[in-house]
Amino acid sequence: MTNDVVRYGVVGTGYFGAELARAMRDNDGAKIVAVFDPENGETIADELKCEAVDNLDSLVTRDDIDCVIVATPNYLHKEPVIKAAQNHKNVFCEKPIALNYQDCVDMVNACKEAGVIFMAGHIMNFFNGVHHAKELINEGAIGDILFVKSVRNGWEEPQPSISWKKIREKSGGHLYHHIHELDCVQFIMGGLPTTVTMSASDVAHNGEQFGDEDDLIMMNLEFPGNRYAHLEWGSAFRWGEHYVLIEGTKGAIMLNMYDTGGTLRVNGKDTHFLVHESQEEDDDRTRIYHSTEMDGAIQYGHPGKLTPMWLHSLIVKEMKFLNDVLHGMEVPDEYKKLLDGTAAEEAIATADAATLSNVEDRKVKISEITK
Ligand SMILES: NC(=O)c1ccc[n+]([C@@H]2O[C@H](COP(=O)([O-])OP(=O)(O)OC[C@H]3O[C@@H](n4cnc5c(N)ncnc54)[C@H](O)[C@@H]3O)[C@@H](O)[C@H]2O)c1
Repeated sequence: MTNDVVRYGVVGTGYFGAELARAMRDNDGAKIVAVFDPENGETIADELKCEAVDNLDSLVTRDDIDCVIVATPNYLHKEPVIKAAQNHKNVFCEKPIALNYQDCVDMVNACKEAGVIFMAGHIMNFFNGVHHAKELINEGAIGDILFVKSVRNGWEEPQPSISWKKIREKSGGHLYHHIHELDCVQFIMGGLPTTVTMSASDVAHNGEQFGDEDDLIMMNLEFPGNRYAHLEWGSAFRWGEHYVLIEGTKGAIMLNMYDTGGTLRVNGKDTHFLVHESQEEDDDRTRIYHSTEMDGAIQYGHPGKLTPMWLHSLIVKEMKFLNDVLHGMEVPDEYKKLLDGTAAEEAIATADAATLSNVEDRKVKISEITK
């Protein structure tokens, strides 16, 4: 790596990979050297004025790449991450890092063994509102945390064609594909739960115009110190909701992504703050949720589509952070788990424990997964 320019390769340049690449290109001291995507690589390479290579090995073995950004479909993250690490490239990998705990551990370990950075694309950590909530918690504004509730629910209409994002084997379904909230809850709780219980089913979206993911997921987590969390995801909810609610002994914090805005409530008094970077971004997210652009409380992208305003500015923030780290910036404590594999492994461990709980119809100890 040279001191002044970090050189990037991007694997997977569909909806999200192209946006990550555009944002990274615009950073000082960053250059996109090459992309690999069998479908969309040429188009994005033309736009970014970089090279399109026709196979993964040609990208990861290049001497003029310092860091590989992986934004392939979820079930195709492992090979590019491990090959990049084996070739001593730093790695940024989109969420969910893997669809099972062992794959995630293998990926993180490959990076550790190679002595390269592994950054998990858990973008919720870059929300202004999440950062502010963490500050408030650290200052003791809501006392000791007792309970966190996260809900990401909406209604999915019949699909003209079925995206890989709706196929459990490829995306992991809502639980893995939308792992953001689980990562956020575990961050707030300071780590892993001790036990996990989940009920999940496909209750209203069977048939050819739908994928095979569960459309209704309810998870309960028990944390050390008599603390609890409840998380819901799904596309079988006509009453859409999307929020993270943090309940403490002295007050509560609501991060509402649906009617977008943050609220601190202490002694019956509400103080409001932004969830994103500006009122315009918060309002635009509210508009999207209240329009027809949403599908099951999720805005699904596809190659060629641009991200909404609030997500674009998060991508810019996330890519600047990665580029700054690769230029030698010290990682603030708040983000350490994103860069040492912990956040990635903890999120997938709990998702796996939840999956096992649902399959075996029992409460699962997290140690059964992390053993
Ligand atoms: N952080 C977020 O908020 C966020 C949002 C959207 C997507 N994502 C993640 O980004 C990743 C990509 O999602 P997307 O929305 O861009 O999907 P997408 O379908 O739009 O793009 C995926 C791209 O990967 C390419 N591809 C498929 N197999 C490949 C392979 N073996 N090697 C290289 N390229 C390959 C496809 O041709 C396509 O261009 C997923 O992991 C997804 O979960 C994250």
